[in-house]
Amino acid sequence: MSSSIVTTQNNNQSQDLIIKPPSSGLSLQGKITVPGDKSISHRALMLGAIAKGETTIKGLLLGEDPRSTASCFRAMGAEISELNTQKVVVKGIGLGNLQEPKDILDAGNSGTTLRLMLGLLASHPDRFFTVTGDNSLRSRPMSRVVKPLQQMGATIWGRENNNLAPLAVKGQQLKPFHYHSPIASAQVKSCILLAGLMTEGKTTVTEPALSRDHSERMLQAFGAELEIDPQTNSVTIIGQPDLIGQHVIVPGDISSAAFWLVAAAIVPGSELVITNVGVNPTRTGVLEALEMMDANITKENERIVAGEPVADLRVKYGKLKACTIGGSLIPRLIDEIPILAVAAAFAEGTTIIKDAAELRVKESDRLAVMATELTKMGAKVTELPDGLEINGGSPLTGQEVDSHHDHRIAMSLAIAALVATGTTNIHRAEAASISYPNFVATLQQIIG
Ligand code: S3P
Repeated sequence: MSSSIVTTQNNNQSQDLIIKPPSSGLSLQGKITVPGDKSISHRALMLGAIAKGETTIKGLLLGEDPRSTASCFRAMGAEISELNTQKVVVKGIGLGNLQEPKDILDAGNSGTTLRLMLGLLASHPDRFFTVTGDNSLRSRPMSRVVKPLQQMGATIWGRENNNLAPLAVKGQQLKPFHYHSPIASAQVKSCILLAGLMTEGKTTVTEPALSRDHSERMLQAFGAELEIDPQTNSVTIIGQPDLIGQHVIVPGDISSAAFWLVAAAIVPGSELVITNVGVNPTRTGVLEALEMMDANITKENERIVAGEPVADLRVKYGKLKACTIGGSLIPRLIDEIPILAVAAAFAEGTTIIKDAAELRVKESDRLAVMATELTKMGAKVTELPDGLEINGGSPLTGQEVDSHHDHRIAMSLAIAALVATGTTNIHRAEAASISYPNFVATLQQIIG
């Protein structure tokens, strides 16, 4: 029996991804690249739009989420060239100059677009904005940014006590503020820092553990004045600098590379090299977790590209063992927990993932969904209030599973399917294009 990976279109416009590994097994080989980092892509478009002069972006992620960001900022007056990976040109309109859009801003599926943008909208006096998103985004909590913005003087309305999009924003001159965030969230931190940009004085965010720091790095590169205190996980922005357009080079997304790291680690005989991956220490929790599991991963050719650390990652198959993932590691691997759950299903022993209740408010409830879908395939998974308990080593069989329209779930299940017996059909697999439009093509390439 030969392997096959095919996609089929359903009547309701959704896509099935059907994966049938050969009964003799398969191995993954090759040298691949992954698409541009999603977090950095959003920030490059946003900062480019509000800076003075021209910003060029190389390696932008062409997924649906950055497209949502680009279309929102175009609607507010920024000129952004057609999106491509070679060179996107953003003609910035300068700080404080976002125009009142004539229509509702649509952030699609993208929490980063909506939450970061809210900080900018709330701090543009005398302009009125309405923002919304898809079904998933309209059910995700916005009070985590609305409340601190209100404490700075913002005027924002929305359903459920201003928690849910659609939201309406009446821009104001905000007051500086020190926000002690109860959650380690880069979206919250970045929203407040962006609001602080146009606020006279010092605006500080202190978080309980360090979340990704791409905003801090890029704001500084664009000329903003920041004070960073690593002892207390605090960042202060000094209001009203002029941002100046820059050349941004976006590294490959480690969150996308994670699928291949786990795939090669669990498919016997595999060896993959993933080139040009961003290895910013606030994002490399997945490497540390896989190292605890004894995965055979090496970093090669480490370098700094446009202010972000980058490396090539070589991964070889090897037996995995269970581990415990929690605490301050969680924000550093927050998006990789679904694929780490797949790794855990193939590891010897019981893996515990804890302190990860944030996963319940991602594009789907990722704890519930991974527990449900992996259990269908035969994995031994128990859902915990703030995590998962996974007893590794049960053989998986191909089943009908569902992405719940969550990109990272679709791709995690596809990797699990590579080591399952029989055929797996992943419904609503088109969700992968939110962050990884070529996912299926790369999968076909490394299977040969
Ligand atoms: C992101 C931050 C994370 C992450 C999301 C992207 C960002 O969310 O899950 O995919 O670009 O700032 P939180 O900050 O809400 O944890």
